[in-house]
Amino acid sequence: MKKISFFLCLALLSAGAFAQSAATSRIIPMPVSVKPGSGQFILDNATVLAASDAEGMRMADLLNAYIVSHAGFALREVKSATAGQKAIVLTKEGAEQLSAEGYRIKITANRFTLTGKGAGLFYAVQSAMQLLPEKSGSVVSVPATEISDQPRFSYRGTMLDVSRHFQPVSFIKKYIDLLAAYKINTFHWHLTDDQGWRLEIKKYPKLTSVGSTRAGTIIGHYPGTGNDLMPHSGFYTQEQAKEVVRYAAERFITVVPEIEMPGHASAAIAAYPELSCFPERDTPVGPKTAWAGSRKGKHVQQTFGVFDDVFVPSENTFSFLQNVLDEVIAIFPSKYIHIGGDECPKTYWKESAFCQQLMKEKGLKDEHELQSYFIQRIEKYINGKGRSIIGWDEILEGGLAPNATVMSWRGEAGGIEAAKQNHDVIMTPGSQGLYIDHKQSNSPDEPVTIGGFAPYTKAYSYDPVPKELNDDQKKYIKGVQANLWTEYIEPGSKIEYQALPRLLALSEIAWSPVARKDLKNFSEDRLPLHLARFDKSGISYWVPTPVGLPEGTIHGDAFNIELKQPVKGSKIYYTIDGFRPSETSTPYDSAIKVVVPKGEKRILKTIVITPNGRRSVVTETILSNGATDVKAK
Ligand code: ACM
Repeated sequence: MKKISFFLCLALLSAGAFAQSAATSRIIPMPVSVKPGSGQFILDNATVLAASDAEGMRMADLLNAYIVSHAGFALREVKSATAGQKAIVLTKEGAEQLSAEGYRIKITANRFTLTGKGAGLFYAVQSAMQLLPEKSGSVVSVPATEISDQPRFSYRGTMLDVSRHFQPVSFIKKYIDLLAAYKINTFHWHLTDDQGWRLEIKKYPKLTSVGSTRAGTIIGHYPGTGNDLMPHSGFYTQEQAKEVVRYAAERFITVVPEIEMPGHASAAIAAYPELSCFPERDTPVGPKTAWAGSRKGKHVQQTFGVFDDVFVPSENTFSFLQNVLDEVIAIFPSKYIHIGGDECPKTYWKESAFCQQLMKEKGLKDEHELQSYFIQRIEKYINGKGRSIIGWDEILEGGLAPNATVMSWRGEAGGIEAAKQNHDVIMTPGSQGLYIDHKQSNSPDEPVTIGGFAPYTKAYSYDPVPKELNDDQKKYIKGVQANLWTEYIEPGSKIEYQALPRLLALSEIAWSPVARKDLKNFSEDRLPLHLARFDKSGISYWVPTPVGLPEGTIHGDAFNIELKQPVKGSKIYYTIDGFRPSETSTPYDSAIKVVVPKGEKRILKTIVITPNGRRSVVTETILSNGATDVKAK
């Protein structure tokens, strides 16, 4: 059976499923509606770029900069185009009929019109950039088409952890550019954790003079093979953080800061030990942890996990956090302030006479209720400043704060429960491929990661609206987010590698209607074009394995395997002699034909190498003709 379906599948593939994609299907995320027209818009340097107001002109400049870098010439910018003039026109005329963030594009032989306002016009420009193919000669032609588009969710987010590994502002801006290109509108900035406090707080200078530096980091995967004995430091000044907020806002991205509490607080406690239940105790370090420097006293953590030393719920801690939040609120204009709330062990609260007495006084029946008391006090403070809290789904435990939004990360259950309690929800379940720190394949060629397995196809297949909810409850699902924790990710290039192509899958599930999702079209037609652009512009990414490659073991005596490049312009090389493929192996240029004698097997190994030399992992497919050491399927 397997053999028949395999050959049937090959026949279908060669019947045109791999045909050159139409320009209308280049866009990620897939627009709501794309209608092909007739003819082509030929973009040449006689084309003018028209925009009549300041916002339109700013967007026109963005588009022109893109045209310069991709087509090699700039367009003349004008306030309005004459009737017969070939023009790209940016306008908000008619935008009042569009929904929030929505836009329209109409391309005819002499007009390329982008309609929208604010984020809508910005997204029209992003789509227009994607529609422009790479230069061919001195003209670029775009098929006539009409696009009408708007997002499925108002919150389309991604979280980046800069505590475990700090990233400079220059990288944060590059990352924000990437989010903007894919219509992701929320950058959740995880600024504090056990391994480093990364935001200047003027009232508490030790948060950064002490809390932003750890003396070393474990080597390799937890518990590590040693300690690198290299201090790891870094923080953002308030001016830098404001600059990031400004930069993001220009790209219609809201920055949501996260200040972790009551757990993941080791860096703050290293700076101000009185924030701990037990200021006199040493930072908890397992006996097997390789540690840089003294183990005595309080320290910024050098290893990863969940630690018992959490904030004590004292009046001193609340004033500290309120003062910190005052400064955070002054930097970040976002509606949401993320207060963390995840993974707070209750060990110290159980051992602490102060915590037990407080629970008695407040009538709290257990430490979960103490956590809820903690979060509710913080929520009240933040609400008093006109903002709302958002927190990881543990904030449900012990009772949800009245106005809180829940980020459902431990599967979907927290999100379902919060929606049933009429609370807004952002879905970000690790089990559904949205933890983009996980591995993208099971190959030993993958770099060290925290674990897990989350190929982009998994995120792509996820629908953020749980079936368990009724129509009223579904309205509380405000959006979806992917999370990039950086325990094992230091250079920006590895962040990009982990994020791509998974952020593109996120973008499509966050923006496009479910009915427009099409994994085959995404993987085979659009992704190869987008990855080729990353390749050209020096953005790192995970190189997919060949399209059409059967996985695992296939059975037969003669094999005819047709493949397609997963990145436009890349090359596939293969071996069947057991050796690791490289550029010296056989290049794939037509179907791989392999004959296997009875009772034997061959191992087909492939690698993809892109024009800029990026490599996929090496794949292995077993071609078996009744080999005895291979299980029949
Ligand atoms: C989390 O992954 N600890 C929210």
